[in-house]
Amino acid sequence: MTTPIRTERHDNVLVIISDNPPVNALGQAVRAGLAAGIEEALSDDGIEAVVIRCDGRTFFAGADITEFGKAPKGPSLPEALDKLEASDKPVVAAIHGTALGGGCEVALACHYRVAVPSAKIGLPEVKLGLIPGAAGTQRLPRLVGAEAALPLVATGDPISAKKAQAIGLVDKIVGEDSLEADAIAFAKSKIGQPVPRASEGTANQDGVKNPAIFDDFRQKNGRKMRGFDAPNAAIEAVKAAGELPYAEGVKKERELFARLMGGTQSKAMRHYFFAERAANKIDDVPADTPLIPIKKVGVIGAGTMGGGIAMNFLSAGIPVTILEMKQEALDRGTGVMRKNYENTAKRGRMTVEQVGTAMGLLTPTLDYADLADCDLVIEAVYENMDVKKEVFGTLDGVVKQGAILASNTSYLNIDEIAAATQRPGYVLGLHFFSPANVMKLLEVVRGAKTRDDVLATSMKLAKKIGKVAAVSGVCPGFIGNRMLSKRQEQANQLIMEGANYWDVDDVLLEFGFPMGPFQMGDLAGIDIGWHRDPSKVTTVREALCAVGRFGQKTGKGFYDYDEARNRTPSDEVKTIIADFAAKEGHAQRDISKDEIRERLLYPMINEGAKILDEKMAQRASDIDVVWINGYGWPIYTGGPMFWADTIGLDTVVAGLEKHGLPVSDYLRGKAARGETFNG
Ligand code: 3HC
Repeated sequence: MTTPIRTERHDNVLVIISDNPPVNALGQAVRAGLAAGIEEALSDDGIEAVVIRCDGRTFFAGADITEFGKAPKGPSLPEALDKLEASDKPVVAAIHGTALGGGCEVALACHYRVAVPSAKIGLPEVKLGLIPGAAGTQRLPRLVGAEAALPLVATGDPISAKKAQAIGLVDKIVGEDSLEADAIAFAKSKIGQPVPRASEGTANQDGVKNPAIFDDFRQKNGRKMRGFDAPNAAIEAVKAAGELPYAEGVKKERELFARLMGGTQSKAMRHYFFAERAANKIDDVPADTPLIPIKKVGVIGAGTMGGGIAMNFLSAGIPVTILEMKQEALDRGTGVMRKNYENTAKRGRMTVEQVGTAMGLLTPTLDYADLADCDLVIEAVYENMDVKKEVFGTLDGVVKQGAILASNTSYLNIDEIAAATQRPGYVLGLHFFSPANVMKLLEVVRGAKTRDDVLATSMKLAKKIGKVAAVSGVCPGFIGNRMLSKRQEQANQLIMEGANYWDVDDVLLEFGFPMGPFQMGDLAGIDIGWHRDPSKVTTVREALCAVGRFGQKTGKGFYDYDEARNRTPSDEVKTIIADFAAKEGHAQRDISKDEIRERLLYPMINEGAKILDEKMAQRASDIDVVWINGYGWPIYTGGPMFWADTIGLDTVVAGLEKHGLPVSDYLRGKAARGETFNG
């Protein structure tokens, strides 16, 4: 059997090399190889220094997540790393790609770290519901201080090599193409000097002298951390690094790590990690399907949606031609895009030059003929089948053969739209979520005739523009909005039966959503799609519009808003709802939060089951990906289908029956057989 670790001698330096594609995860064989490599170096008098580096695209990207939850096989990563750090011959980590999690911990156990300029370093364990488990929370603060360590450990966001050097995590930035040679030279320069060990560092005392840094961090990041267990454990571990001797700090880290590993949040977040990667694969489309080069994109419609969609491509360096019907709308749309970019620059997330580069790739036009040479055109006009058919018919006539034509529709039938063209194989849905330049999800809607290369190209392109893509079949509302409609139906029904509308919102907030349906309505604008006739009132929303309650923009919608946009339930709205309920003959009763939660969420699971049964989603985990990235379903529950698995499908069936709601045969069958959606 070939081992993933080999060693090479370069004079008096032993280079330990890992070759464990795709990301050099630290599986058992790698850990054993690292330990053996160090033993080899220590037992050879001709070796005076060690370099650890990786082949392939990256330095170790972390522990092997597929080993989690299985019986551990030694040596453990902490054991291997302690051995490494204990060496009295200098050990240098030579970093390229992404040194993440356990990979960063390998680097921390080395005595020195050199990195190429493009390298990224981080401890993303919190994104898996964990904290570092190989002494990363103890070595890092001792090396760089608690204040610098906190964001790395508790947010999980990686930093650049340059930033890592600035905080003292990297000792030297070396040549992009001469990593090994530069690392060997660096190692040689340290021979004969006492080795610095991160575990013996004293930078951690900043947190003891100024404990306010922990509260400040909590305060600044409170919103992002809401509901998550791991970030608080991460803060606790970093704090312990200052308060406890190293060995005890490590013990504390282990306890916290083990508790998180055994909890439901980490299980859910690890499920999500693999779900996101699985969603990118289409079962019946071969991985080596040739792709269609996308060098230029057309966008139809420069409104909020079209502008947001265009920005994705501009930011990725792909030229965009954007089309509108009137000059005024075109100017307004491109003006908003520029402003959005400028605001991003003001917040320091891009430079003024980058704003110029992105906007320089944009060509505004009023003429369809200017879209002729685009490789992909995305339509983002308003939701009306006749309008969409006309647009696609026109596009088919002007855009070159072999180009992809996509609709951003959120519920219309893609096959019907495709039939308006002579190239249905090149038509599909690319459903972006608002704001399209921010939201991660892209629902890729596969029509009956969509070609494999069109699908494969769209999935690849989604990754290039930083989206998380999931494939949906053609059905009203696709995966996301189809399930949302079931939740909305219940929300509307619940307030007719006597539930407080703020309780409906609060139940979802408490579950972990960023907001509930009525808050959402206020944010988006209740008047969207309103017929503008105050005398014609047939729904609660129309009643609110009739009295000028358009949402946050008018300071009142379902809620009254103060200047800081804090919401208070409104007496006027309570009366409007009560009047409606009386008119429709609904008896009023107190409704518990448990009932509200079950009636909002269980019908979504039932709809998800139907989506699977009809094969509109390839797999249950794709549905989880859609809901986590498009609708704010809390990732620490793993998404709707994983959550249903966690609470038990029989619980969902019983809940639906209790509330007199429909149960699909598919869900009932799975529950009866004791199965789960995610296998
Ligand atoms: N363990 C096992 N498999 C892993 C892995 C890991 N740590 N990281 C990535 N993979 C697998 C992916 O599942 C994927 O498999 P697939 O091809 O079968 O779908 C393959 O490697 C390639 O991954 P990506 O598609 O994500 O490749 P990218 O190039 O887009 O991204 C990456 C590379 C940035 C390294 C990204 O994979 C990543 O973020 N990985 C996870 C990093 C991480 O979380 N590390 C911490 C692990 S926990 C830990 O270390 C605990 C320790 O403290 C004890």
